[in-house]
Amino acid sequence: MKRTFIALGLTASLLAAAACQPGGGPGAGGGDKVKIGVFMSLTGSTAQFGISSTNGIKMAADEVNAAGGINGKQIELNVQDDRSDAQEAATIVTKFVTQDGVAGIIGEVASSRTIAAAPIAQNAKVPLLTPSSTNPDVTKKGDYIFRSCFIDPVQGAAMAQFAAKSLGKKRAALMVDRKNDYSTGLEKVINEVFPKLGGEVVITQSYQEGDTDFNGQLTSIKGSNPDVIFIPGYYGDVALIAKQARDKGITVPLVGGDGWDSAQLYTIGGQAVVGSYFTNHYSPYDTDPKVQKFVKDYQTRYGSIPDALAATAYDAAHIMFDAVKRANSLDGKAIRDALATTKDFPGVTGTVNFNENRDAVKPIMMIRVDDGGKYAIQERVVVEGAAMPTGTGGGANTNTNTNANTAATPGANTNAAGNANSGANTNANTNANANTGAANTKATP
Ligand code: PHE
Repeated sequence: MKRTFIALGLTASLLAAAACQPGGGPGAGGGDKVKIGVFMSLTGSTAQFGISSTNGIKMAADEVNAAGGINGKQIELNVQDDRSDAQEAATIVTKFVTQDGVAGIIGEVASSRTIAAAPIAQNAKVPLLTPSSTNPDVTKKGDYIFRSCFIDPVQGAAMAQFAAKSLGKKRAALMVDRKNDYSTGLEKVINEVFPKLGGEVVITQSYQEGDTDFNGQLTSIKGSNPDVIFIPGYYGDVALIAKQARDKGITVPLVGGDGWDSAQLYTIGGQAVVGSYFTNHYSPYDTDPKVQKFVKDYQTRYGSIPDALAATAYDAAHIMFDAVKRANSLDGKAIRDALATTKDFPGVTGTVNFNENRDAVKPIMMIRVDDGGKYAIQERVVVEGAAMPTGTGGGANTNTNTNANTAATPGANTNAAGNANSGANTNANTNANANTGAANTKATP
């Protein structure tokens, strides 16, 4: 009671800050609060993932709390740092479900950490929503596990198609983080899709997160004379690999996925990452008014431009809160069922509906890294058919529409309709919309 009384005297943001204190003990969820567990990497090798994500989630919670909460109940976030460690992620989620009495869980960014924690939430029947883990296995952990982003079979197909079709590349090298589910998942898809588009993966080399010397792998890569290098990894490693590749005189474009997104990519990689491309969930230069409002509010609050982690996590938090509201209950099954029936949720990272696998089907942006570390939207890619190549059947049924949009409203160029590939082989059916509108040339921080 005392705690509630004190909290009532605080502003929304102070309330959220207070709610972030760990602990609370069994039953702390009570009936007067909506307790949501958040597990993220606030320290360790991918700290920026967790910091940005938590910023987005706190902002969403404060918005809802300031407007009266969820059906009159205030949201109480229980934010925990897993130190970029999968085992710690599992430990935190165990505590969420056995001691803290959370109604729902948001986390993680990295697929390996979500995969480690998901079975625990599933067994306890507490719904878990990941904002940004893209490996397909994440939601296979059970029917209480959801993701509000695209999956790697779609992202990997977009990467392979971009290299083959848009860049016209034929000989790819692959640099893979062998112990990372995200990296190996993308490797698999690239190996399936790139050859179907007339390319060949001429060499694959591996590394491990945190390595600092890539000399041996890059010497081998240089020897096999690729015209593009796929690096499905996380920003810190990618930046070092890029630097060492350029030092070796390897000048071909580097292509990556969402794991590249961090201002740190350029801070560490500098000129070596300029001219590279990566797929992503969103761009702060999208002219959609709701994106621009989000960017402005976030900048006012945190003093920086939100990256994709902040945006995906902000959306995930609002999706979770919306489900709790519609469930009108703190019961796990009721919230799970409400999440499953999320309909056309208008996120800043796109409209969210969950398919039968509890995965979202969303547009993908191909981002180009320009001088000074500025990001530009190179293409918007809408991949239809979330059940993309998984290694079982599925031919190279690639349907590419390239629409040059020269209007000054790139945000409107989401060509989702009319491109449904209704054949049995629903593979890489992609609309690559070359956007030459105003937003393409704007600078990032
Ligand atoms: N998609 C990555 C994974 O599943 C995580 C990630 C998402 C990283 C978005 C950066 C931006 O591991």
